[in-house]
Amino acid sequence: MIPNIKLDETSSIPQIGLGLWKVSQQEFNVSFDAAVASGYRHFDTAQVYGNENYLGEAWKRHGLKREDIWITTKIRVENITIGHTKPSFEKSLDRLQTDYVDLVLLHFPVALMRKKAWKTLEEMKAAGKAKTIGVSNYTIRHLEEMKKYAAAMPAVNQVELHVFLQQPELLAYCKENGIAVEAYSPLAHARAGAEEPLLQELAQKYGKSFAQIMLRWLVQKDLVVLPKSVTPSRVKENAEIFDFELNEADMTRLAGLDRDLRTCWDPSRAP
Ligand SMILES: NC(=O)c1ccc[n+]([C@@H]2O[C@H](COP(=O)([O-])OP(=O)(O)OC[C@H]3O[C@@H](n4cnc5c(N)ncnc54)[C@H](OP(=O)(O)O)[C@@H]3O)[C@@H](O)[C@H]2O)c1
Repeated sequence: MIPNIKLDETSSIPQIGLGLWKVSQQEFNVSFDAAVASGYRHFDTAQVYGNENYLGEAWKRHGLKREDIWITTKIRVENITIGHTKPSFEKSLDRLQTDYVDLVLLHFPVALMRKKAWKTLEEMKAAGKAKTIGVSNYTIRHLEEMKKYAAAMPAVNQVELHVFLQQPELLAYCKENGIAVEAYSPLAHARAGAEEPLLQELAQKYGKSFAQIMLRWLVQKDLVVLPKSVTPSRVKENAEIFDFELNEADMTRLAGLDRDLRTCWDPSRAP
């Protein structure tokens, strides 16, 4: 059973969400069906992934009740840049076959236009079209800037976070400011992890896989975690992390793996 994390008085988000980046039309239903069977109810898409429409079709096909699932989408950089946040968001709702999303994020801190885009998200929230609103790839600097223009701080900041990129200062800042952190690429694309001796040792010790150790470490830090897989056995495996607990000593040893490894984009240079 995947637990929820409370975001505010009215919203609780399932702690594990299915990542949908690079999930093609051919792969979509395999991944989605395995996820639903394994208890996932949280799906993380984006305009730029090109699969919002497959998600819209898939949740309808399964006969899931809208209120029983969590849908996140993200406004793509190009739409923020040309000031098309609102019309593009309306199209996302159509593709997702819903009249609201649970969470919409600005995908990246786009220079000059991010304030305007945020104000649009605030309007979308007031109109009931987004239950919660947030940002992605924002550094402390970008979040501090928001204090000057945002009615309230974002509910969520979705950033790259895993044992090899732990971002402790950002986590502390978000905690202090009531911003939930979502860990994207939580497996660092599964390459470095498969070869890391400590992860292999702990996998043996706990009778789990290296991937489950990586995900469990994030869960115990109270983060929302977004693993992607199009392999049904892995989709299932990635949710089976609530039946064991890493002890404090092992959590500390895993903290020692931090080496600032970015596998995605680096927002620290975004003006
Ligand atoms: N906001 C942003 O800018 C941003 C950026 C990147 C990602 N994200 C979100 O975060 C999600 C996850 O990140 P990601 O897709 O970059 O990477 P990831 O989840 O860290 O890694 C995915 C890779 O790991 C493999 N994998 C998954 N589970 C595994 C397991 N149990 N054992 C071994 N290998 C496993 C997958 O292979 P198979 O699929 O072949 O099984 C795939 O190659 C994305 O899908 C997206 O929703 C957001």
